[in-house]
Amino acid sequence: MNIEEKSSLKELIKSQKPNFPLEQRFYLDPTIFNLDMKTFFFNQWIIVGHESRIPEKGNYFLFNIKNESIIIIRDDNGKVNCLYNVCRHRGSKICLENEGSTKNLVCPYHAWSYKLDGNLKSARLMDEDFCSDEWSLHKCNSIIFEGLIFINFSNKPDNFNEFIKPLKPFIELHGLGEAKIASRRKYPTMGNWKLTLDNFHECYHCQPSHPEYCEVHSSDYIKAYGAGSNTGPLSSEFMKELLTWNKYAKKIGHHIGEYTESKFSNFFRSAERTPFSKGKLSETKSGKPASTIMGKFKEFDGGYTTIGTSPFNSLLMSNDFATIFTFIPKGPLETEVEIMWLVHKDAKKGVDYNVDKITWMWHETTLEDKKIIENNQNGVMSKKYIPGPLSQMEVGLEKLKSWYLNHLELILGS
Ligand code: FES
Ligand SMILES: [Fe+2]
Repeated sequence: MNIEEKSSLKELIKSQKPNFPLEQRFYLDPTIFNLDMKTFFFNQWIIVGHESRIPEKGNYFLFNIKNESIIIIRDDNGKVNCLYNVCRHRGSKICLENEGSTKNLVCPYHAWSYKLDGNLKSARLMDEDFCSDEWSLHKCNSIIFEGLIFINFSNKPDNFNEFIKPLKPFIELHGLGEAKIASRRKYPTMGNWKLTLDNFHECYHCQPSHPEYCEVHSSDYIKAYGAGSNTGPLSSEFMKELLTWNKYAKKIGHHIGEYTESKFSNFFRSAERTPFSKGKLSETKSGKPASTIMGKFKEFDGGYTTIGTSPFNSLLMSNDFATIFTFIPKGPLETEVEIMWLVHKDAKKGVDYNVDKITWMWHETTLEDKKIIENNQNGVMSKKYIPGPLSQMEVGLEKLKSWYLNHLELILGS
């Protein structure tokens, strides 16, 4: 970015009004998109999968984003490695299939061969002083926590323990380390990543757009907590429900409460436990459980756990299954929304769990979201798009927007 571009962007950031959405340039400009990727996506701990996707040694899948491709592969010792898919010889991509199983990683160009832990095993006709130890595949920062595969592209990643600390008791409650993938689906969405996430951070659209969501969750919850705790006007009705439920869940020894960031940092995390609407035990059409109880739950407590580890991942969990979102920015006008549904590892398909019942809510809701986000993007492209005032139910969107703008300002310097 040259000096003029930088100062025009700084001006633009300064001119954004509180309680209004961003201006058009933020939703389509490729220069801003590239800066966004560097500043946000490549600087966060991102969940890219669950280790049950690669149960056997040699099983792998790729995580591709912009120019980067990461091979996520289980080695001979059972360890999951996250390796840059870039040959150390002349840089060819090594794995070309999106998933599969292999004994070694062999480069298709000149056949350098790597072990599953990324160490170079053999390279043909090299000089005598060639030392293969020096030419292992580059490793991407990665941590497996509760079976979830987190990667971080940064050269100086945030300390993982510090990052996960406030979310830990909420995640650990659900026993995701003892889970498996029941279903995994992609929803390519033709909208900028910020427009896609704006939609995910408000529930103003839930009533007109999401009949399924409104069936499972009470209107008081949707108004006050639909996009996270206190993202809408206070509802004394819902607060009463929450307090009563908190007492009950605490009494039976289940973790309760909520977490929101209290100060500005690189982290944008949230978590809360809330009750479903009366009588419902799970996020299914009937409200009845659709799989085996998971984790530390002693009984179905009628509660829902929602967690944001960063803007790019959300975990929405019933006692019997988890719905995990990854938002992957693909280009200025495209975001891929990937969902994986996790159930207890011993639950038997068709016997203990039913995929259609588990996926019903978020499959339907995400299709609806895809449509409204794409309509939104199309409208935002018009010369007559001028940001309009936000409602009382779009507090979460405003929060995300100010975190985003504060970061960009910091990166661009004063
Ligand atoms: S680029 Fe991979 S072996 Fe030459
Ligand atoms: Fe939605």
